[in-house]
Amino acid sequence: MTKVQVRELVFEKFINSAEIDAAVQRVADGINRDYTGKNPLLLAILNGAFIFASDLMRKITIPCEISFVKYASYSGTLTTSKVRELIGVEENLEGRYIIVVEDIVDTGITMDKLLQEIREKNPRDVKVACFCFKPLAFKKSFPIDYLGLSIPNDFIVGYGLDYDGHGRNLPEIYKIAKS
Ligand code: IMP
Ligand code: MG
Repeated sequence: MTKVQVRELVFEKFINSAEIDAAVQRVADGINRDYTGKNPLLLAILNGAFIFASDLMRKITIPCEISFVKYASYSGTLTTSKVRELIGVEENLEGRYIIVVEDIVDTGITMDKLLQEIREKNPRDVKVACFCFKPLAFKKSFPIDYLGLSIPNDFIVGYGLDYDGHGRNLPEIYKIAKS
C-alpha cells in the first residue's frame, strides 16, 4: 500500500520497515557503545515515542532501565510557558545517566523545555535519542546525541507518529501526498 488516508488527509509511503529498522539500530549501536557500566535510564516521551522506545530497548544489549513520562506545553500567550508534566518521573533521577527517547524533533521547542525540566532533577548526564529530526525546522541548539533519521520538512505519520491522534498504528512512515 503506497497511499493511506488519515482523517481527511492523504499520505504516501516515505520510510519502509527496513529503513526504520536500520535507523533504530543506529541509535541502539551508539547507546551500546557509550553506556557500558552506566545503567542508563531511558526516559521515553508519551505518546509518540512508545513504538520507537520499545523497538530501541530490544536492540540495547547493555543493562538499562526505562520509564515513561508525558508532557504537554502550556497553551496560551505566556512567553514564559513551561512544559507541563502530565505523567511525571517516578524514579529518582539524581546522579543517573538519562537518555531522553523521543519520536521526532521539529523546531526543538518541546525538547528544549523538557531538557530544562529534567536537568532540574539533578541527573548525572542527559542525552537525547531521537528517531526523526527535521534539521531545516530546528530553532534550538541542543545536540541530538543519537539520531535515527534526518528528514525534510514534510509532515509524517506512522510508527507512533500521529495526525490529530490518528495514524500511529501504521507500521511504516508516510508523508503528506503532494496532490
Ligand atoms: P517541536 O517542539 O517543534 O520540536 O515539535 C515536537 C512535537 O511536534 C513532536 O513531539 C510531535 O508530537 C510533533 N511533530 C512534529 N513534527 C511532526 C510530524 O511530522 N508528524 C507528527 N508529529 C510531529
Ligand atoms: Mg511527540
